Amino acid sequence: MPIPHPIHHNPKLDEWLSAQGADLELRQTVLAMAAATAAIAGEIRQLALEGTAGLESGIINVQGETQLKLDDVCNQLCLDLLQQVPVVRYLVSEEIDHVVTNTYAPGTHDFAVCFDPLDGSGNIATNNTVGTVFCVLDCTGAQGDAEQKVLSSTRNQLAAGYALYGPATLLVLTTGKRVAKFALNEMTRLYELVRDDIRIAPEASEFSINMAYAPLWPRPVRTYVRNCIAGKSGPRGKAFNMRWAGAMVADMHRVFIKGGHFIYPAMPKKGEPDGKLRLLYEGIPMAMLAETAGGAAMAGTQRLRDVVPTSIHQRTPVSLGARDEVMLLAGSPDLVRAA
Ligand code: AHG
Ligand code: MN
Ligand code: MN
Repeated sequence: MPIPHPIHHNPKLDEWLSAQGADLELRQTVLAMAAATAAIAGEIRQLALEGTAGLESGIINVQGETQLKLDDVCNQLCLDLLQQVPVVRYLVSEEIDHVVTNTYAPGTHDFAVCFDPLDGSGNIATNNTVGTVFCVLDCTGAQGDAEQKVLSSTRNQLAAGYALYGPATLLVLTTGKRVAKFALNEMTRLYELVRDDIRIAPEASEFSINMAYAPLWPRPVRTYVRNCIAGKSGPRGKAFNMRWAGAMVADMHRVFIKGGHFIYPAMPKKGEPDGKLRLLYEGIPMAMLAETAGGAAMAGTQRLRDVVPTSIHQRTPVSLGARDEVMLLAGSPDLVRAA
């Protein structure tokens, strides 16, 4: 069945997806998500004009976090656009406690889209960068109820992407072959291809972590960061820089473009034994993008994409980006010796 909503039309994005070998169903799904992000970009600017961007919705979400009105608006836009795609059977959102089942129409496959509609929402009040991050899973043939089907399909990841609402609105996408960057044309409201060969260099001299939690980090993270900031005279023998935007999408975008290493570790001493970031709609999408760009993605000492989730809002430690740095932190014996 064709998609009735004209907003899904985005010829250059569709062309790129076709060139990646994406079938019609996957293209429709990604185009719907892209349309949602274009609409979100407009909402963010509109609320800023109205002076209401930082207002709270009055709801504490399933994460126990205070929801902004904008979190809710962005969530609704993602739901509204994705639910018009017949193949999108299941939706998992940071803002909804359960798996939403789409009853629009049966497709030939069952896809799940897992999304964080507004990443870094704490940045909204100060007009700093925020984003949207998502992945598409193929649940076709999976067993059990909706939640079990989604949880057992995280290794069948068909696509991942994020939008970055900064000075320009960007969309970074992969279907597992290449990582491409699109920019939103503000006149046509359509995404245009800017670059389709984003690679993360294996070495890096920049890391990204919230230093305020240093006393709470696990020992390997403390040692790793201490060695980085020791600079040229330290065990690493080179100077490192540090950046923290407070939105994973913004911090990871810098890693994709300039190289680097993003870490949000487990912090048992802070009551966060699995860290803060969520596996299904923050960790797994960024891991697919990072690995496809030649980088690495670990959850502690385990490859992040190999973690089998047991709940949809499960958290995960993340270490993402430059392969040598990620593997050094994960304790790869060769690299530990080299350091
Ligand atoms: P969200 O706004 O979707 O809840 O995500 C915010 C996350 C992530 O984007 C960012 O890296 C991290 O929270 C920042 O956490 P700290 O405030 O602990 O630094
Ligand atoms: Mn987030
Ligand atoms: Mn969010």
